[in-house]
Amino acid sequence: MITFFYEPSTRTRASFEIAMHYLGGQIVFSTENAKEFSSVTKGETLQDTIQVLSNYQPDVFVIRYHQTGGLQALRSHTIPIINAGDGAGEHPSQALLDTYTIYQHTQTLDNLHIAFVGDIKNGRTVSSLSKLLAQYKNTTLYFVAPTHLQTSQDLQKYCHKHKVSYKLLHTIDDLPHDIHAIYMTRTQKERGSHIDDLSLYTLTPQRMQYFSKDTIVLHPLPRNGELPTSIDTDPRAKYLTDQVHNGLLIRMALLYKLLYK
Ligand code: NCD
Repeated sequence: MITFFYEPSTRTRASFEIAMHYLGGQIVFSTENAKEFSSVTKGETLQDTIQVLSNYQPDVFVIRYHQTGGLQALRSHTIPIINAGDGAGEHPSQALLDTYTIYQHTQTLDNLHIAFVGDIKNGRTVSSLSKLLAQYKNTTLYFVAPTHLQTSQDLQKYCHKHKVSYKLLHTIDDLPHDIHAIYMTRTQKERGSHIDDLSLYTLTPQRMQYFSKDTIVLHPLPRNGELPTSIDTDPRAKYLTDQVHNGLLIRMALLYKLLYK
């Protein structure tokens, strides 16, 4: 496996690499700061870079790219490529682990009510998870964000197409108390996002009292001010435990399915 990351990562790269180790495979080349330390600085295109690395015969690439949709250029590449996040686009393996974490707690993926809070517009995890949840029956999604960071028209169209009912909200306080999961996200500052009043999109212990004992809290991490550490000991908080652990399991399953069949 070759992991090639043009943007910073802790969990995604670590869990893919550890997953491959645990499966008995090897990471033959791994670059964390591809934008700074690879031939990209000399003007090499992504296609050329991956073509060159392909000659070293990996069985799979895991690539994180900084441009939304940029990995589409490699669509017909002969060696499998896993998208580990592309700009503000998609993060499919994160969606798999998030969905599995929800499933562990609800034992179903139908009739779910899930809330996304924060920078909906630029958070790629929200886009991928919404689209995956849309595949199941009677999904209801709540997008809680300031107007300028609300869901894209594309995602809303996707929801319409898949008969997903969704609501656009301006504060966490407008959510129903018996929602199945609250998916918190950080403000994507590196993509130019800014939230004036973060308190509307911050999950406090006081707000947690309002939600049901079965409402789980997820966050793809890293977090900023939107998810204070005072929530961490709440049994409904899954972001530092199950969600992270499932990242390893799901990526092991994904690599196994792809490579060992
Ligand atoms: C996310 C990402 O990189 O998209 N983190 C992750 O992969 N677990 C979330 C983020 O950066 O905000």
